[in-house]
Amino acid sequence: MSSEKTMIVVEKLCKSFAGVPVLSNLDASFNKGEIVSIIGPSGAGKSTFLRCLNLLETPDSGRILIDGVDSQEMDVRKLRMKMGMVFQQFNLFPHLSALENITLAPRSLLKLSKAEADELGSELLEKVGLAGKEWAFPKELSGGQQQRVAIARALAMKPEIILFDEPTSALDPTMVNEVLGVIRSLAYEDGMTMAIVTHEMRFARDVSDQVFYMDQGVVYESGAPEVIFESPVRPRTRAFIRRVDTFSFDIFEDNFDFYRFDAKIDDFAMKHLLDHERRETLVDLCENLFDNFFFMFTKRISFTIGVTEEKDVELRFAYKGEEVNPLTADINSDEPVDKFTAVRLLTKSVILNTSSRATYTRQGDDYVLELLIPREQKRRA
Ligand SMILES: Nc1ncnc2c1ncn2[C@@H]1O[C@H](COP(=O)(O)OP(=O)(O)OP(=O)(O)O)[C@@H](O)[C@H]1O
Ligand SMILES: [Mg+2]
Repeated sequence: MSSEKTMIVVEKLCKSFAGVPVLSNLDASFNKGEIVSIIGPSGAGKSTFLRCLNLLETPDSGRILIDGVDSQEMDVRKLRMKMGMVFQQFNLFPHLSALENITLAPRSLLKLSKAEADELGSELLEKVGLAGKEWAFPKELSGGQQQRVAIARALAMKPEIILFDEPTSALDPTMVNEVLGVIRSLAYEDGMTMAIVTHEMRFARDVSDQVFYMDQGVVYESGAPEVIFESPVRPRTRAFIRRVDTFSFDIFEDNFDFYRFDAKIDDFAMKHLLDHERRETLVDLCENLFDNFFFMFTKRISFTIGVTEEKDVELRFAYKGEEVNPLTADINSDEPVDKFTAVRLLTKSVILNTSSRATYTRQGDDYVLELLIPREQKRRA
């Protein structure tokens, strides 16, 4: 992983709070001059990851190498000078003016004279579009302006890396763009390495060199923004990007309880306002697949149902066992149709009657059938 361009390497980073793991063997690497957006569901560990990077949290185990040096062995102050951070809540000192907020650290840590620090502070205020606001106090500034002061304050330490933790999510929507605009302009400056936790997908897509999708304490998938936003490979990334709300449970042949299954689908369908007819189609389809297909090959199926924002329904059936792809079933007129081929053919026709997309793949140890049931239902032929 070590190339000339690699700046930060994170290896098997673990962090728990009260015994609950939040980061679990997280691996990642950032190149020098790269803009990395970190996206993912709430609770995935994004903030904790950033906080571990600049040692606001102490990792339980694992390593963070910055330019090849283990961060645990670095002086915390030196590390934070190299790595600035901008928070959701600005965290400006309320009793100091904008300029004083910016010049405090350069004066005490970089030992700049007052004149030098003030000159730097004014330049930075201009850079973030706040020329003339030197003497304004935080309470006299809008949220967007306060956040821009916070960005100027981070820049004043001339960091090589800036970490942003949801820099726009505490802002009134009318102020999001002015702050994103400032971050965007920094991104185009040479040499700045940035990691940005954000829910602003369009921004992440435009500005990033790399996107990390975090889920359950790891960087679950990473790649170029086009790949992550258009054709992510892994299922949870796909669900997140397409905003599929999913619900999973295991189905066991031994005690398959149709009424219970029906009730669960019902709850899910109600939650997503699916009409009665669609609910019936789903229940019929699943029952048919379980009884006439899956239970012939397996005793246990991991079942997931998901609904996209467009109200398409996605079904996923994963099982361990034989590879039995119904989608490739075909009639060869020269040979009598055996029982398994008959089952596959029947299943294929059930799928084709209901689904607009169907795939059968191997994923890890599982065989997985995935179906997309479009909002506009196919009418049975
Ligand atoms: N100091 C702490 N003490 C106890 N639990 C914590 C602490 N910090 C974070 N957690 C827990 O760790 C988990 C991950 O939190 P984290 O803030 O890193 O997630 P996140 O991905 O940033 O989420 P969000 O998008 O909501 O900001 C959460 O369940 C949170 O409650
Ligand atoms: Mg967070």
